[in-house]
Amino acid sequence: PRNTEKMTLLGKMFLLLFVNVSLLTKPIDGLLMNAAFRKQISDQLKQIRSLETNINLLSIQLMAQQFYVEEQTRSNGNSGLKHVRTSRHGIHPYQSASHVDNSLASIHDHANNDRTIGMGELVVVLNGIEFRTRHNDYRLRMKSRSTTNYGEVDDIEFPDVPPEVKQHIDVKDQIEEMRQWFKAWRDQDYSVRDYRPYFKPVLCYLEGYWTHSDQNSIDEPFDSDRHHFDASSWYDLQQKIRFTSYSGGKDGFENFGYLPTSVMKLINGTIPVLAQWNYDILCHPLSEDLPLSRLQPVDDLKARMSKGGLSMNEYMETRAARYRIDTPGQIHSTNWDLLDDLMSEIPGRDNYPGHITDNIFGDTTLPFNADTDEPLNVAYYHRTYRVSSAGAMGLKVRHRGFSDENLFVAQTTQPKVVSLDVESCSKRKYQCTVWEQRWSYAIPLEIIYMTPLSKWNPYDIPYRGDSRTKEGKTIFDGPKGRRNGRSNKNKAYNGTNSKVYYQTPTEFFNNEINRDPADTTKGSTFVLDAGNNVRQVRASGHRIILPNIPDVGKLRQRYPIMPIHGEGDAVWKELEALKDILLEPSKFQQMFRDSDPVEEHVHTIEFETGPFKIGLGITQTSF
Ligand SMILES: *[C@@H]1O[C@H](CO)[C@@H](O)[C@H](O)[C@H]1NC(C)=O
Ligand SMILES: *[C@@H]1O[C@H](CO)[C@@H](O)[C@H](O)[C@H]1NC(C)=O
Repeated sequence: PRNTEKMTLLGKMFLLLFVNVSLLTKPIDGLLMNAAFRKQISDQLKQIRSLETNINLLSIQLMAQQFYVEEQTRSNGNSGLKHVRTSRHGIHPYQSASHVDNSLASIHDHANNDRTIGMGELVVVLNGIEFRTRHNDYRLRMKSRSTTNYGEVDDIEFPDVPPEVKQHIDVKDQIEEMRQWFKAWRDQDYSVRDYRPYFKPVLCYLEGYWTHSDQNSIDEPFDSDRHHFDASSWYDLQQKIRFTSYSGGKDGFENFGYLPTSVMKLINGTIPVLAQWNYDILCHPLSEDLPLSRLQPVDDLKARMSKGGLSMNEYMETRAARYRIDTPGQIHSTNWDLLDDLMSEIPGRDNYPGHITDNIFGDTTLPFNADTDEPLNVAYYHRTYRVSSAGAMGLKVRHRGFSDENLFVAQTTQPKVVSLDVESCSKRKYQCTVWEQRWSYAIPLEIIYMTPLSKWNPYDIPYRGDSRTKEGKTIFDGPKGRRNGRSNKNKAYNGTNSKVYYQTPTEFFNNEINRDPADTTKGSTFVLDAGNNVRQVRASGHRIILPNIPDVGKLRQRYPIMPIHGEGDAVWKELEALKDILLEPSKFQQMFRDSDPVEEHVHTIEFETGPFKIGLGITQTSF
């Protein structure tokens, strides 16, 4: 450890001031300052002014350089996921991590927790701000519906169990009936069993914003029952992440993150206002059902190739799969699609009661898809809007961001969020107005279908609350030491808590498969019910893909839909076009530059089998 003393520019100024003041308070002979002394003071005042000017210039340049980096990042790609942690390398670049490795966005299961959604560390870009999250493992929580209090959240209500299931006394009958509901959901057939009130989609999103923050403290961005920032202050966090970046190492608990700080503005030309970037992951229960057919796969050749050459169907059954929200009937580009509808249900930092209208520069911000001239509530997320007066090129429809496809923004009134202001003057400069606004940015992450499994408790196993409470911990108290879930009265858990959330009869599923090292779910465990009977049960939390349900199959519960940063890059756009042409050659025949009209031709398909993978070679005499 070293003690270092640094003389900052500001420090020097204060010293100079101090010297000045002490000189002035010195008794002066005969009340007359001699000329040399007066000159000395005036020189020092000049020096202070010059230092002030220099601080102002340097601070302005500092802001300009931050802005330069942001602007470059903005045009390098869209707001979206950029990278996950690399854990292995290969002989081909596509064998190591990008935004996807074993799973997309490092998603995994913590189904033994009541409402925890497994998601690892991510590098994300939001409106040109690149940052790295901690290990996320977020909870199914939503912004407050009743207050605008900063950061206030509510637990999302789990869907009920269909009465048709509960009416059966025999657990076997309940299981059989419950399977029918899962089957109806799988088939999207609500004619006999209307599954829609019991299988409810939530849209989880990642949100970022600049905050006023004391660098000597830290604001935990959002609750996780598994992870938190392991730092005493923002400054401490920055030093720790700098060290791991410098050494290439990592925190074993993945509790560091890189969240940038920035000089946002200068007060009186010399006092910098430091802003701290922060983010959170929350969810929103969608107002209507989202049919499964609205979720369409996005091909990812890197993911398919790194897993040994998976077909599209095989890929869709893995944790690497990504989806997009499909808008019925849409083929071409558009100003507004189904994702816009879904995102517009989500409020910014003012929570659900938030209501803000925006008439910056005298143009009223209007909703894109409404006929009224009722202003848009900009406290909710949107990326396309209309303005009441025509813009420079007569355009009335506007898209947020210069080059960003996914810049969903919402305004807020929270003083905690750093504002920026801008002055605009009327043409003849008769009147100037200062507009001050605060914004946050968001991208969609995933659609999660909550199911009746969260509440279904046919064995009547007592739930003892949050695992962190005294009551929650009693499930481990046993006559023969700590209970661990074994199959006898003394070792089976005495009820469940938020982290030992096992209440689904084992018979409902077959064996749990598709494991990831980050998963914490035990296949099957034993818990005492209210009558002290030992019950064999499975985890009842949320999973990417549910274990096999006999007669129903393996159903996906989480549909990741996050955009990818690189997709905004020109090369990626060209590459996607190339992928479509190459992988659907008959559809895009005319794209081949030297192609003749299709004539009779021969396909030779060679299969080559090895111990680990199947290679597939295709030759064609003509396209
Ligand atoms: C900025 O200058 C004004 C006018 O001189 C002064 O009233 C105000 O306190 C200053 N602000 C700060 C933060 O020093
Ligand atoms: C289980 O916990 C409850 C509540 O703490 C307690 O009353 C009961 O005796 C416990 N059962 C056993 C078998 O330890």
